[in-house]
Amino acid sequence: MNRDAIILGVLMLIFGFKMGYMMNRKRFLQLGAFTGIATSLLGRKVHAQHVGKMSGPVVVSTWDAGLRANKGAWEILGKGGNALDAVEKGVMVTEDEINCCVGLGANPDRDGFVTLDACIMDHRFNCGSVAFLERIKHPVSVARRVMEKTPHVMLVGSGAQQFAIAEGFPLESPDLSPDAKKAYQEWLKSAKYEPQINRENLENKGHGPFAPSQINGEWNHDTIGMVAIDAQGQLGGSCTTSGMGFKMRGRLGDSPIIGAGLYVDGDVGACTATGQGRT
Ligand code: GLY
Repeated sequence: MNRDAIILGVLMLIFGFKMGYMMNRKRFLQLGAFTGIATSLLGRKVHAQHVGKMSGPVVVSTWDAGLRANKGAWEILGKGGNALDAVEKGVMVTEDEINCCVGLGANPDRDGFVTLDACIMDHRFNCGSVAFLERIKHPVSVARRVMEKTPHVMLVGSGAQQFAIAEGFPLESPDLSPDAKKAYQEWLKSAKYEPQINRENLENKGHGPFAPSQINGEWNHDTIGMVAIDAQGQLGGSCTTSGMGFKMRGRLGDSPIIGAGLYVDGDVGACTATGQGRT
């Protein structure tokens, strides 16, 4: 699927959601089948109409690193737990690991600070998000508190950190993980900053258009996004990242933006997207 088709699909989905409320959301999606919308969207539409009948539990997440996170989610789903708890606990596994792109152990921005973004959403359009959050280990859990305990959807920066501390999240050390420190020192040698859109496509090594390349024998990855359906047929989704490595301080990608990094509609489906941050 090319980028234009994805953009068209996303736009039509947004349009669909808006029009849907004006007439009838499912009816609008049905009409879409006859209007020559991108094939991918048609595929999603057919899927969407079956979500209500789909039997759970099922969990999916991005990249190979997501397999460990899926196991974390499965500890909840496998016992009949709900999708929202599962997608929170699942991605916390990745937030706990030392890796390039998720959690406090990840690569810093160009000034040497790790800043985290995350969001979470349930099947009833409840959602919460944090961005530019520093020194808090589990941004996805802070996002959930934003959803459950504030009248807002998103908190950012020092305000998000202040909220997290007030909610009892410990303030962690500002020190970089040993891996991140090494990577940062290496990066500082050239301090090259040239983000490329759709880089995944350029690095296709025969694994399909969006397959990541391997680095040091491990599949490359970035953000983790996770969606799940539980045994009761309810959906949930989460997304968490440290953003682009060595980014400009203050740079924010798509991951914590509801409707870009993640969207969940209990009647239609759930989806998460990642990459260079411009979904
Ligand atoms: N993919 C996450 C980001 O670009 O921030």
